[in-house]
Amino acid sequence: RATHTVLVASNRGPVSYTLDETGALTAKRGGGGLVSGLSSIGPDAGALWVCSALGNGDREAVRRGVGEEGVRMLDIDAGTHADAYNGIANSALWFVHHMLYQTPLEPVFDAEFRRQWAAYETYNHAFAEALAEEAADGADVLVQDYHLTLVPRMLRELRPDLRIGHFSHTPWAPPDYFRLLPDDIAAKLLDGILGADRAAFLTQRWADAFTDCCRAVLGPDHLSSSNTRIGVHGLGADADFLRERSHRPDVDERMAVLREQIGTAPDGGARRTIVRVDRTELSKNIVRGLLAYQELLADRPEWHERVVHVAFAYPSRQDLAVYRDYTAEVQRVADEINSRYGTAGWTPVVLHVKDDFARSLAAYRLADVALVNPIRDGMNLVAKEVPVVSDDGCVLVLSREAGAYEELGEDAIVVNPYDVSGTAEALHSALTVPVGERAERTKRLAAAATALPPAQWFLDQLHALRSAGRSAGSVD
Ligand code: G6P
Repeated sequence: RATHTVLVASNRGPVSYTLDETGALTAKRGGGGLVSGLSSIGPDAGALWVCSALGNGDREAVRRGVGEEGVRMLDIDAGTHADAYNGIANSALWFVHHMLYQTPLEPVFDAEFRRQWAAYETYNHAFAEALAEEAADGADVLVQDYHLTLVPRMLRELRPDLRIGHFSHTPWAPPDYFRLLPDDIAAKLLDGILGADRAAFLTQRWADAFTDCCRAVLGPDHLSSSNTRIGVHGLGADADFLRERSHRPDVDERMAVLREQIGTAPDGGARRTIVRVDRTELSKNIVRGLLAYQELLADRPEWHERVVHVAFAYPSRQDLAVYRDYTAEVQRVADEINSRYGTAGWTPVVLHVKDDFARSLAAYRLADVALVNPIRDGMNLVAKEVPVVSDDGCVLVLSREAGAYEELGEDAIVVNPYDVSGTAEALHSALTVPVGERAERTKRLAAAATALPPAQWFLDQLHALRSAGRSAGSVD
């Protein structure tokens, strides 16, 4: 009989495996809010994490029966997974929720889309079946994100005894945009989540958009007659972990290397640094950030030789051509700025593309200004991590379209992410904030950013699910 009393389901799990030429498997444990959240419960206490096998290493680990206690990887047929993950989740759903279509000609929901949708259903069903098999009587199941939108409804049909929560880590699209999707599919996505006892979001704004979509697509009374409660849990930064991790020797080493790359101004003074750290992700708006920096240099020559933009853009979703093209565009614009403005002793943009967490922390510690300008973002944890880690205080330039804006907006310099000139001006203002004010702002930002650390965020969801009961369409 299944004994798991708390189950988490997500596409990307807490561990991944790489397979080398000799056939050896190496495990790498990931970071992030869910990983630290679930570790506060642990396998001994009956926790299980159900996730997808993502690459060859993961699939080989499943075949060999290698794995971690408390983690079950599902080896879903690779073609089905690719259609569900690349085709539906990362192309259609990610694009809708982040409002990323570049032109009205782009969204085309045709027979190929329908074929991928069938794979998305199969993939969601595989999760629902695994969860149904693993869950103890009356267990709590926390289903994560847009990859698994259909799981709550499917699982409720298989196991009506379970308490089911769904958490969206992305924004939710407003009805006019959400309804780009075919009506039947829009309805299935919403109804999938309404199979849960609780549907939770990172901010009130995304929760409101979800309820607006329910009204627009399913009818005005559908939500209130459903048994789903709506909740908000604003995931925060993990201060204890970050402060300890950012003072280890590997971070100090990387700070020395970065200082070397940044160099010193001709008068011998320290150069200012504008830091950004992102996945190379369309919604992160990296190119407009670079263009804003270029305008700063064009309009305000006083900054020449005195500022460096340290930009880390780590590879993401490279199976999708549009992400590969975007990665190339980031590189091209950075090169162009360097060739236009660079001198023998000054590289205006230091761009790194190889993922290195210790180097990200080193950049956070050094930053004078952090640029977080997404087009749209569920939360954005970089905005929350920088103020916690910063050595001497750092000014945050923050997009009003990031979820983090709701908590950090007051002490940040806020930008419209599409307004390149406005962002250039915001960078200039940020660079000129007096030292004392900068420290004060950073202190307040760090306090707001750590209000709900990952372990607490996770437990809050669980407690809310346990105490929610099933009462009609209400808000916690
Ligand atoms: C976002 C999503 C996560 C996802 C992450 C990385 O934060 O909300 O669910 O895991 O991006 O994307 P990837 O496609 O690499 O898992």
